[in-house]
Amino acid sequence: MVEQLENLFTEFKQELEKVQEQAAILNLKSAFLGKKGKVSEVLKSLKDCTVEEKKLIGPKANEIKGSIINLINEKLSALEIEVINQKLAKNRIDITAQNRYFKSDLLAGGQHPVTAISDQVKDVFLSMGFEILDGPHIETEYNNFEALNIPDDHPARDMQDTFWFSDFKHLLRTHTSAVQVRGMKTHKPPFRFIAPGKVFRCERTDASHEMVFHQLEGMLIDKNISVGNLIYFMKQLLSSIFEKDVEVRLRPGFFPFVEPGFELDIKCLICKGKGCSVCKQTGWVELLPCGMVHPNVLRHGGIDPDEFNGFAFGLGLDRLVMMRFGIDDIRHLHGGDLRFMSQFSSL
Ligand code: PHE
Repeated sequence: MVEQLENLFTEFKQELEKVQEQAAILNLKSAFLGKKGKVSEVLKSLKDCTVEEKKLIGPKANEIKGSIINLINEKLSALEIEVINQKLAKNRIDITAQNRYFKSDLLAGGQHPVTAISDQVKDVFLSMGFEILDGPHIETEYNNFEALNIPDDHPARDMQDTFWFSDFKHLLRTHTSAVQVRGMKTHKPPFRFIAPGKVFRCERTDASHEMVFHQLEGMLIDKNISVGNLIYFMKQLLSSIFEKDVEVRLRPGFFPFVEPGFELDIKCLICKGKGCSVCKQTGWVELLPCGMVHPNVLRHGGIDPDEFNGFAFGLGLDRLVMMRFGIDDIRHLHGGDLRFMSQFSSL
């Protein structure tokens, strides 16, 4: 009987070699080990054996059963790995493959110039330790106006023509300054951050005005910050963007959320200061409104103005792009004309 069992084991091994699929392996298992399997059939005559014989056959049968189970399990897990490997091989992406659509006569995509400039400005500020914040386009009246020291009946609300929602509590943000309020609530001073994004004004469009445009807000709050610090950061920004000396002037500007407030203008790079439609014939372009944060704004943000102060600015990204690339009409930027856009595809 021992011999019979050993023969069965040999037979099993031969059969196992032949099967490759999970179902077939499991069938083989029951064909040998199942209740009516071959091993059980042999063991049926165990009852007729002597005690001595049983002592010999019992352990042998167990050993063979154990070996069969082990071999089955080994084969099953090898199969599983093989299936996974096959799947991986099938889904492999060859990142070195040639893109058959990439031919010189077809246009490759490129960055929008506003995105490219925005990334460049972000890099400058990241290198100066600023964090980048984001805020929603739909804002509350509180974040866009109230907390920025522009109360309900203040005439300054008319400075920015607003797209209101019908509840008159929500609006499309008219400036990225709304993110100042969010930033002050989530940060403990000292802090410094920038917040680039789209803003919306219900305005008639012309060469230098659009209903949707881009600003990059900046805010720095610390102890003993002065106008000198503000000017330093603004100069760093402009010289790294234009990679050359640009003529700037600082004049007083009114914004309810800063005191004192300034308009930083640059000499128009389109007409070199002679006067054109972009600079409204003045030779100068308003690029960087800025100022020292008003104490009321700090209070709304939960910051004690006796302990901390700082500056804020609202860089006009579209105008910056226009100056940088000599574009004479802001409407080109959103016109979607590929002949215009393709000039920037290498940015
Ligand atoms: N939010 C102002 C605007 O859109 C610009 C600004 C920002 C001015 C920060 C001063 C400080 O006109």
